[in-house]
Amino acid sequence: MSDVQSHFDGEADRYDHWKQRNWYYYDTIKRIYRERIAKDDAVLEVGCGTGEILAGIQTGRAMGIDISPEMIRIAAAKHPQLEWHAATTAGLGTIVGEPFDVVFLSDVIEHIEDVPATFRDLRSVCRPGTRLLINMANPAWEPLLLVLEKLGKKMPEGPHHRISVGTLTRTLADLGFALERRDHELLFPAYIPVVSALVNAIGRLPLIRRLSLIEILEYRFSGEIAEQDSLAGHLP
Ligand SMILES: C[S@@+](CC[C@H](N)C(=O)[O-])C[C@H]1O[C@@H](n2cnc3c(N)ncnc32)[C@H](O)[C@@H]1O
Repeated sequence: MSDVQSHFDGEADRYDHWKQRNWYYYDTIKRIYRERIAKDDAVLEVGCGTGEILAGIQTGRAMGIDISPEMIRIAAAKHPQLEWHAATTAGLGTIVGEPFDVVFLSDVIEHIEDVPATFRDLRSVCRPGTRLLINMANPAWEPLLLVLEKLGKKMPEGPHHRISVGTLTRTLADLGFALERRDHELLFPAYIPVVSALVNAIGRLPLIRRLSLIEILEYRFSGEIAEQDSLAGHLP
C-alpha cells in the first residue's frame, strides 16, 4: 500500500468534518466546478475523496475514482446513484467505455506520485476536445498552510509535493493537453462577514489575483502527443 493511500484511508472518517470546518473554501471549489461543467457532460473526477464535489454538480454520466478504498466506501454510501471506484488511473481504460467530456482533479495533483504517468493513462479516457480541469493551492501559500495544519486548523496534508503551474503545463503539453485558461480565487479563504467578500473582490484585480490561494487551470486534449512522448511509449 502506498503512503498516500494509507494517509487518506486514515483521514477518511474525518474528511467531511474538515470540509464543514473550512466550508467557505469548499463552497468556492464547488461553485468553480458548477460554473464550468454543463448538465449533460460526462464527467470523471480523479481523487474524488468522499465525493462531495462530484455529487454537488449536475452532470450526465458521473464517475469518481480514488486511490483510497475508505474514501470510496464513504462516497458510495452517501451517493449510491453515482459510479465510484477505488482505483488510480492505471487500467482505467478497462473500466470506462465512452470517453469523458470533462476530467477534473481538485486538490489532488500534489499527492500524485507519478504525474506524467497519470496523465498518460488519462488519455485513454479522453477524446479530442475533452477538457481537463485542475485546481490546486498556490505553492507560495505552502508555509502558511503548514502553520495552519500545525495549529489544527486544516486537514493534515500527508505525503505531497507542490508542483508549479509552469512545470505542470509543460508536462501536460507533451501529452497533448494545452492550457486554455488560468484563473485565481480566494485571497482570503476563511469567512468573516463583509471582510471576506471585500478582500476577495480586491483579490480579483490584475496582479493581486496571482497571490490568491486557489489556482484553477483548464486544459483541452488535442488527441495529439509530442513526438518524444510517442517514442517513449514505444521504448522497451
Ligand atoms: C486532498 S484530497 C481531495 C479530495 C477531493 N477531490 C476534494 O477536493 O474534496 C486528495 C484525494 O486524492 C486521492 N489520491 C491521491 N493520489 C491519487 C491517485 N494517484 N489516484 C487517485 N486518487 C488519488 C486521495 O486518496 C484523496 O482522497
